[in-house]
Amino acid sequence: MKKDVLSITDLTREEIYELLESAADLKAKRKAGEPTEFLKNKSLGMIFEKSSTRTRVSFEVAMTDFGGHALYLNSRDIQIGRGETIEDTARTLSGYLHGIMARVMKHETVEKLAKYSTIPVINALSALEHPCQILGDFMTIMEYKKKFEGLKFAWVGDGNNVCNSALLGSAIMGMEFAAACPKGYEPKAEFLEKAKTLGGKFIITDDPKVAAKDADIIYTDVWVSMGDEAEQEKRLKDFAKFQVNTELLEVAKPDVIVMHCLPARRGLEITDDVMDGPNSVIFEEAENRLHAQKALILKLMR
Ligand code: CP
Ligand code: NVA
Repeated sequence: MKKDVLSITDLTREEIYELLESAADLKAKRKAGEPTEFLKNKSLGMIFEKSSTRTRVSFEVAMTDFGGHALYLNSRDIQIGRGETIEDTARTLSGYLHGIMARVMKHETVEKLAKYSTIPVINALSALEHPCQILGDFMTIMEYKKKFEGLKFAWVGDGNNVCNSALLGSAIMGMEFAAACPKGYEPKAEFLEKAKTLGGKFIITDDPKVAAKDADIIYTDVWVSMGDEAEQEKRLKDFAKFQVNTELLEVAKPDVIVMHCLPARRGLEITDDVMDGPNSVIFEEAENRLHAQKALILKLMR
């Protein structure tokens, strides 16, 4: 049976721990220069409806490290861009490839890809979730904090796709989640409900200091996500008080780690001094995308 990962909730706590262990092993092997040709002659299709630096490069390098091949499929260049259906694309690609990862506008697109293909499908960011990001983030948290249970994860900013996955992922791993979002930008009720059913402990506030108080992790993301550009002007005003800066860090634990999925808009959601400061783990987090995704594609495609 093929397995898809469209949401972080497609993985159990045990599976996430297994992936993190495998990711740490793959990271050590890569640093030691050990060969890892576990997916020789296998091909991963990478469908992109939106821009990407980290996701595209890390998945492509992952397949190279495994001795396999990755195909960059820009949705404007393949026939989807001319109206071929997702269903027919999924059926066709299933005959060539061993896995698909897709970065899409609408979450339903990854659902359709998964439904109509016979190979594993990975959500590489949709309007609703970004599970691959959260796996890399959890790997980073594990490296620094050695555990999840009892940690306080503070989200500061937009209740967006990354926030949804962080909320659900925190519920799965037993972290306390506190999100500070401007009114009207909180995570949607369906995600809060889902987190509740997973046993998640969370608070939603519009005060960044309440969320950041005694936090072990402070996480932020852009105020204007891909697709939200039309709201840019309004958002910059609405989010003005939701910046991660040294003043906010003062209320957190002294050993708080600062995370950002990137790309960042320096000087807006995060200041230069915090991003480049001693609490920031942002670029290790970016690197860990590679190792965590390698663990994931190995699990799904081997
Ligand atoms: N964090 C992340 O997914 O980055 P990219 O948009 O560059 O892939
Ligand atoms: N929330 C951001 C994340 C980018 C990786 C976006 O969707 O644009």
